[in-house]
Amino acid sequence: MNMVEIIEKKKLGKTLSQDEITYFVQGAADGSIPDYQLAALLMAIRLNGMNREETAQLTLAMTNSGDVCDLSSLNGIPVDKHSTGGVGDTTTLVLAPLVAACGVPVAKMSGRGLGHTGGTLDKMESISGLSVSMSEEAFLQQVKEIGVAVIGQSKNLAPADKTLYALRDVTSTVDSLPLIASSIVSKKLASGAQGIVLDVKTGAGALMHTLDASIELAQVMVRIGCDAGRKMVALVTDMGEPLGSHVGNALEVKEAIDVLSRRVKGPLLTVSLELGARLLMLGEAAETVEQAKEMLTEALESGRGLETLRKMIAAQGGDPSCCDDVTRLPQAKVIQDVLSASSGYIQHMDTIGLGNTAQAMGAGRRTKEDVIDPSVGFVLHKRIGDPVAEGEPLATLYAKDEQSAAIAAKAITEQIHVDARPVPACKLIHAFVTEETIERF
Ligand code: URA
Ligand code: CA
Repeated sequence: MNMVEIIEKKKLGKTLSQDEITYFVQGAADGSIPDYQLAALLMAIRLNGMNREETAQLTLAMTNSGDVCDLSSLNGIPVDKHSTGGVGDTTTLVLAPLVAACGVPVAKMSGRGLGHTGGTLDKMESISGLSVSMSEEAFLQQVKEIGVAVIGQSKNLAPADKTLYALRDVTSTVDSLPLIASSIVSKKLASGAQGIVLDVKTGAGALMHTLDASIELAQVMVRIGCDAGRKMVALVTDMGEPLGSHVGNALEVKEAIDVLSRRVKGPLLTVSLELGARLLMLGEAAETVEQAKEMLTEALESGRGLETLRKMIAAQGGDPSCCDDVTRLPQAKVIQDVLSASSGYIQHMDTIGLGNTAQAMGAGRRTKEDVIDPSVGFVLHKRIGDPVAEGEPLATLYAKDEQSAAIAAKAITEQIHVDARPVPACKLIHAFVTEETIERF
């Protein structure tokens, strides 16, 4: 096999064979193909695309470039949910305990924060003592015992993706549908779940900004998953503004606990129930979305969801007392309101900007070496469409010092746009996508 010929073929817009795809993916995983040739091929793929077969073959080759987790010893159909990345998007911590409390095993491998988006692992690590790394045996044992475990991806999960993603990041080739789809789905297939619900975000804060592009990405990914023999569906959900009101690691854990303690309802719960219902259906615990939502609501209202979260935290070495007293989570030194400079309605939000503000406060990393401050972030008091009066709080900041609070306050007043004209609230769920169908809401 000759890498120059493979690059040449894709440069001319031709279709790569399965052998050619397997060859360069293996070369990416084992380091035998130099970065400059991989980068040239990635740009050719970005410019000329890949058809459905090529994209599926690329995904499977990436899945098989490393370890594939075997969950077949679990009772029932293990399920997992994956979000393409959002701000204030804490659905995992709400739905994983609820779904497990309804009898469907949740064996979830999560990621860390990336760019402006938060990561479940970073959020969980704000709980004192909690660990997100464990052996495959311990992972399986925990799922058998309490029905749920949320851990980090093993080091050797889809190693080809690690190489290719790092190159894409620095060669302007992230925004390619076949490259995004294969990157995401290869990791989900390797993590072993049989039923997978994708939460594809759409809007200003998402990977794909338009609804049509988000639906297309969702369907490409679902088809790859189904072709690979897994049960996969996708919901396209809104990221025109943060999903929950809390942004920041310990703050998002607090919001998930508030929801599971039935102190708070709202968009985070709505989207969590919607995603969780699809997981129960893939896990064959419910026949209809309505039935599934009733089961999840019962688990919420009986307190079994919160109890399952408590058990999961304890099983992973964390202090579960935060479930009963959220002030046991890390607390920020400086707490300060951000006031609206004018009266009117919230028109729109710069969601990526808000994510970057949280990151700059210390809630995310700018370089791999950065250490996260779990206590910092902010709570938004308004959603798009809400009326606001001059001098009313738009947000409350949780900062490490006065200077960081001042910088964040200035940024947030620019990232939340207030204007006299009333606008409608954002729709939360835009579409449901299966292998064959697209249902728009
Ligand atoms: N997330 C991934 O894991 N891969 C991509 O390509 C984009 C988002
Ligand atoms: Ca087995």
